[in-house]
Amino acid sequence: MTLHDLRGRPLRDLRVSVTDRCNFRCAYCMPRELFGADHAFLDRGDLLSFDEVEELVRAAVELGVTTVHLTGGEPLLRPGLPDLVARLAAIGGLDLAMTTNGVLLPRHAADLAAAGLDRVTVSLDAIDDAVFRRASDSPFGASAVLAGIDAARAAGFGDVKVNAVVRRGVNEHQVVPLVEHFRGTGHVLRFIEFMDVGATNGWTDAEVVPAAEILAAIGARWPLEDLPVRRYGETARRLRLADGSAEIGVISSVSTPFCGTCTRARVTAEGRIHTCLFSTGGTDARALLRGRRRPGDLAELLSGLWSTRSDRYSEVRAEVRAAGTRRAAPVEMSYIGG
Ligand code: GTP
Ligand code: 5AD
Ligand code: SF4
Ligand code: SF4
Repeated sequence: MTLHDLRGRPLRDLRVSVTDRCNFRCAYCMPRELFGADHAFLDRGDLLSFDEVEELVRAAVELGVTTVHLTGGEPLLRPGLPDLVARLAAIGGLDLAMTTNGVLLPRHAADLAAAGLDRVTVSLDAIDDAVFRRASDSPFGASAVLAGIDAARAAGFGDVKVNAVVRRGVNEHQVVPLVEHFRGTGHVLRFIEFMDVGATNGWTDAEVVPAAEILAAIGARWPLEDLPVRRYGETARRLRLADGSAEIGVISSVSTPFCGTCTRARVTAEGRIHTCLFSTGGTDARALLRGRRRPGDLAELLSGLWSTRSDRYSEVRAEVRAAGTRRAAPVEMSYIGG
């Protein structure tokens, strides 16, 4: 079946955060001042169990979901993740993806592939070690992430997507070196405009490097051509270097919002459902999962949320921010997973 929201957008993707923990402290996501040694992460019992995630995904599949993205925090910090992947793969017919910071892939890539994960996307904001360490506020160098990308390829994932969030004054000068590095490898490099997710990353408009500027920097070195749109609701505009040596993408939720075709629902690590990356509150599915049940209750909850959805935050960002009308703090990236 296909379930449409109030703007006619079908529900197609479910992004599932499996942990709020991460071994990086990217300033735009988990600034160390706020996610330090004394930060209270969710307890194990607060997280949805694999049984609960599976049940939620099965209900979503009944309603038309065809892609499931595992996210975090860092999803590979969730013990036993390949077991969850195997359960979700057993549902059948799903495109199963994971977005990771990559450093634990050498340890887990083979198990994930064997369990039935289809795709891996790796975040990498800089190729220069010093810039990378600063951006990720971690002891790891870019080489640890590159080793993860190699491990993914060796495990059979083939070409992976590499995500780079571009922030002015932090890593904008890494755009061309990143393209230089990945040219000719088959991996697809995607540049992401810095977004105002959550309430802790100190976002300002001035730090956003618009996609047009990113493309101009790349285009000055290598002529670019647009690629055809592959599917409805894709986040990235896809291009290639005209010499065919690389596909690149830009995810421009600030300068060119893509809410009009947004097919994504999200589940936080503790089981709250959000119909927008920028929503506040969310709806508690865990209470339902752990309470007295009726047949079909989860599907009913999901379809009720989707069919009354009208979110389009990125299209109205400027007005909302100017008016200061967001009542509560929006959910943090490390809970909702992007
Ligand atoms: P593919 O299915 O592989 O194309 O992945 P994806 O681009 O949907 O997901 P990924 O985890 O790679 O996220 C890439 C970037 O897009 C991240 O910065 C996400 O936060 C952002 N993103 C994903 N979905 C949305 C969305 O619905 N709205 C906004 N504003 N940003 C999104
Ligand atoms: N703006 C844009 N992208 C972000 N990500 C995390 N925080 C932000 C932000 N504020 C990216 C990560 C990862 C993906 C899931 O979201 O780098 O690639
Ligand atoms: Fe961790 Fe990803 Fe957030 Fe960086 S962006 S702190 S790697 S969850
Ligand atoms: Fe979808 Fe909200 Fe992102 Fe718009 S801002 S694309 S509605 S998640």
